[in-house]
Amino acid sequence: MFRSWFATCPRGVEPALEGELRALGAKGVRPGQGVVRFTGEREIALRACLDLRTALRVLEPVGEFAAVTADELYAGALKLPWRDLVAKGQTIAVAASGRAEGLTNTHFVEQRMKDAVVDALRDRHGFRPDVDPRAPDVLIVVHLAGGKCSVSIDLAGELLSNRGYRVRTVEAPLREALAAAVVLVSGWDGTTPARDPVCGSGTLAIEAALFAARKAPNQERRLAAERSEGDARIVKRLREELAARVVAPPAVLASDRDPDAVEATRVNARAAGVQLRVEQADAREIGPLDPPGQLFLNVPYGERLEIGGRKQLKTFYHQLGAALRRLSGHRAAILSGNEDFESAFGVRPRGPKRVLWNGPLRCTLYTYVF
Ligand SMILES: C[S@@+](CC[C@H](N)C(=O)[O-])C[C@H]1O[C@@H](n2cnc3c(N)ncnc32)[C@H](O)[C@@H]1O
Repeated sequence: MFRSWFATCPRGVEPALEGELRALGAKGVRPGQGVVRFTGEREIALRACLDLRTALRVLEPVGEFAAVTADELYAGALKLPWRDLVAKGQTIAVAASGRAEGLTNTHFVEQRMKDAVVDALRDRHGFRPDVDPRAPDVLIVVHLAGGKCSVSIDLAGELLSNRGYRVRTVEAPLREALAAAVVLVSGWDGTTPARDPVCGSGTLAIEAALFAARKAPNQERRLAAERSEGDARIVKRLREELAARVVAPPAVLASDRDPDAVEATRVNARAAGVQLRVEQADAREIGPLDPPGQLFLNVPYGERLEIGGRKQLKTFYHQLGAALRRLSGHRAAILSGNEDFESAFGVRPRGPKRVLWNGPLRCTLYTYVF
């Protein structure tokens, strides 16, 4: 059935997600804030779950009503067609976001919503679903904004961004969907070598390798929607199609000066099923790629640094700029959450700067051609 869907994403990533949706064949693509609406058959939405790199969730909208108080939330939720959405024996969970005048506590909103669903099914249909917050059969997603409550079902059942490969982390890991956005926005076509010289847990390098191999980032993931036989059949066919698309990627290198980061990247790359060349190195001493290629960096922010630390960080940015500008013919996409970065780095960025949010942290993505 042709209908409308939503895909959510980190703030700032909407244009990248919009591009991905168009490439999938979605119609009526309309970006909002942290969300892109689209239309299409159910198959497009299931494909979106497996193949989108920058999405957090793919949602099937089930209803919208005015609600600014707990009573309005409960009453509105009672009226939705829960019997069509939750089968006897299935477990549920609720994930809420946003706020309204009288509904400022997300956890409370989730509780009231769950009460309404359970009461509606028990009173009208004689069964009571259990709640399973970890792996629910049906994840109900609630968003409050502008005095309205919109309710949807998450087709995957959990965040698409949690790919499952991040077995080990070191300081300040990037969300996978945000790392993927950096790769897509960089304009790299995935045919030249790439390197992340400040790789941390390896997220950017892993997303770059997945992109270059044309691997769908959630190809192996079991979707909540697959509990329905019809969807399971479609997803099986899509998985086969996506697996046939995979190509051998160019070399993707990852390095960090911290040995724990090097080890974490090795472990995570193995879990992601991608081959990275991982080594311990100082980013200010790296040599050129052969042939010249693409650099991806999420530079240290030093959020909690004292004054002396700030100076040290500026010196590091400056030395990094001096080292990277020597890599002629290379391009770089650099994500920074530190306002000192641009001037200390000392190279003029090419193309527009983009603001991307890493959770609550405002970051800027700069692109360079050396
Ligand atoms: C913000 S973290 C990168 C996080 C990474 N994007 C992730 O998702 O896990 C910055 C990394 O820069 C590394 N680093 C700091 N100074 C460095 C240097 N001189 N050479 C190489 N790596 C360095 C730190 O060890 C840290 O892992």
